[in-house]
Amino acid sequence: MREWGEFTSISNAKGVWLTDSKGHKMIDAVASMWCNVWGHSNKELVQAITEQSRKIQHTSMFNLTNKPAEELAKTLVELSPGMHRAFYSDNGSSAMEIALKMALQYQKNIRDKKRTKIAALKNGYHGDTFGSMSVGYTPEFFGRFKEQLFSTVQFPVPHRYKMPKGYDTSDYENHCLDKMETRFARDDIAALVMESGAQVAAGAIIYPKGFQRKVGKLCKKFGVLFVLDEIATGFGRLGSMIQYTEQGNRPDVVAYGKMLTGGYMTMAATLASKKIYDSFLGDFKEHKHLFHGHTYTGNPLATAVAYKNLQMYKKYNLIKKIQKTAKIFYEFYDKISEIDIVGDIRHKGMLMGIELVCNREKKTPIAPARSVNRIIFEEGRKNGIYLRTLGNIVMLVPPLAISESELRMLLERTIATIKSARPKVI
Ligand SMILES: Cc1ncc(COP(=O)(O)O)c(C=O)c1O
Repeated sequence: MREWGEFTSISNAKGVWLTDSKGHKMIDAVASMWCNVWGHSNKELVQAITEQSRKIQHTSMFNLTNKPAEELAKTLVELSPGMHRAFYSDNGSSAMEIALKMALQYQKNIRDKKRTKIAALKNGYHGDTFGSMSVGYTPEFFGRFKEQLFSTVQFPVPHRYKMPKGYDTSDYENHCLDKMETRFARDDIAALVMESGAQVAAGAIIYPKGFQRKVGKLCKKFGVLFVLDEIATGFGRLGSMIQYTEQGNRPDVVAYGKMLTGGYMTMAATLASKKIYDSFLGDFKEHKHLFHGHTYTGNPLATAVAYKNLQMYKKYNLIKKIQKTAKIFYEFYDKISEIDIVGDIRHKGMLMGIELVCNREKKTPIAPARSVNRIIFEEGRKNGIYLRTLGNIVMLVPPLAISESELRMLLERTIATIKSARPKVI
């Protein structure tokens, strides 16, 4: 904390540009924590919030409902094959807590006493609350709370750049799946939780093609609920609207957040299949319902802007545009990898992770005395971009509707930033 001193204050923003209180402009290269879709101050989204704010700003969803919340739920279910109902919350970590509670309580509702454990993938990230820290356990982030976290069954994940000795990617993928199959056969796992498409917070680890589909198949085969976290990857980040459809899955539960409102209001949703939903139906005395509710659950301002946002995806054919714009990243692969501290480039859709190393052969991460994040942030600012690294990985996660010329500018500026940071990080 001492490193930071004074923080840069952002006073306004338009499109992909953030303007600080001194009038400096920066490209928002992390989409304001991976959630901004259309850029800042988008007229249609602002109007959706303004119009809704004249009608009702907030009302409880305990015993009541409201129109935008209903419209949004219907849209989410239509967009998500195999899903039946949506449960709202106001951030991704809570959406994952809800997913875990749904999966564990489902087993109780159907009176399966054996299935009490949660399985997850190593390097996964699902949020910062205790349940989500337990399933997305990263020692560097959460080691200080280890004693308080519940235990989970953790499976390895194929990571092309960091393959254990003696394995190639496909051997290792089979090894991971074999481990799962063997462990699943004990019939004590309630659900397997994984990020859909990629482990973003682990530094953009993109699963090998087919891996996620095979995991889903194993879950079905062994009666393990398949819970997907699409909080960072749903709604276009990896180039498809719903990532699990591209992966060939039908999960039991899926969580969305981040881009759901276009990055304008805080909101998340956990969707469940009919099988899961139906298990929660019962007479009052059976106590089968889900005891979970937040003050701002289904907030009308958030649901109204989320509904508008999802309509705009269709209206402007955003997914097609993303698929086209994302090709720009390839034009810069060579120029990025020419920089001698770049160890690996990982990219899919509108996500890129650039791993910085001090020894390419040994893949040794750069580890300057000050945090890499601080150094890259400062250099980025000088080059007119807002960057936030994850450890030694520079993350490019721009607003999804960024134009081709803006993306080129962002990539050029990222290269300049890494070059100017080089003497400070090694
Ligand atoms: C995959 C994933 N799940 C859950 C979360 C937690 O979301 P939130 O920060 O809204 O609590 C994040 C946040 O980065 C995430 O990337």
